[in-house]
Amino acid sequence: MFLAQLSDLHFRSQGTRLYDFIDVNGINAEIVNRVNALAERPDAVIITGDIVNCGRPGEYRLARRILSQLNYPLYMIPGNHDSKAYFLDAFSDLCPLLGHDPENMAYAVDDFPVRLLFIDSSIDGASKGRLSDNTLAWLETMLSGDNKESYVFMHHPPVPFGSAQMDPIACENGKSLLELIDRFPQLTRVFCGHVHRMIATQYRQALICSAPATVHQVPYLHTDTRPLYSLEPGAMMMHNLVPGIGLVTSYHSLAQFAGPWLYDPQISCPGDDC
Ligand code: CO
Ligand code: CO
Repeated sequence: MFLAQLSDLHFRSQGTRLYDFIDVNGINAEIVNRVNALAERPDAVIITGDIVNCGRPGEYRLARRILSQLNYPLYMIPGNHDSKAYFLDAFSDLCPLLGHDPENMAYAVDDFPVRLLFIDSSIDGASKGRLSDNTLAWLETMLSGDNKESYVFMHHPPVPFGSAQMDPIACENGKSLLELIDRFPQLTRVFCGHVHRMIATQYRQALICSAPATVHQVPYLHTDTRPLYSLEPGAMMMHNLVPGIGLVTSYHSLAQFAGPWLYDPQISCPGDDC
């Protein structure tokens, strides 16, 4: 199993820039083409929320057009910048497992040696997240069914990561998910987005890790609560299930940079110079 995780694309409507100066639409379209061109192709692409910036129909029209160009199975969940209803309208045919109820988007992917559990932590109109009683009951049912190793994908981190800016808008009842980690040893990963940066911690057997955003990042500051953002280059995470080891997650930069080049020991240490 080899998966690419993108997060927090924040599409704007056609011809509009994010904050009037960031070309999120163009950069995300370019990233879609780069992901399609990967020599080592992932089995699926996952997007962990904040597909658009303002939850508006025109943004979803553009996001849908560009994301439908991805040549991979696509698994998505909404974030706080999404509108549940418009999100579902735009993407239910690209990701049929989303179902038809915008208030209950939760689904499992069982095509791999591990089970992927996708849940919606967003609350329409709020920045912080919350897991509904239905979502928690669904997770419990999925985890009680058998002991297949399972990973959760959600937008909001279930724990505060120590970020002065983002902790107040994390998932407010993330403790309920931690209680499931306590009870179900097969739940070994929680992958989220929302904080626009790769940050990882561990709770018992579970790695809890956020993905970078594709375009704009958020500095990780511990006391400064101002809503800062930057154009530090975007990235995605690659999840590679290595036989005998388990899941290995790596950071895949989406910056424009020179290379790669081939390492050659003759060139590296030619032996005729000092
Ligand atoms: Co975001
Ligand atoms: Co968010």
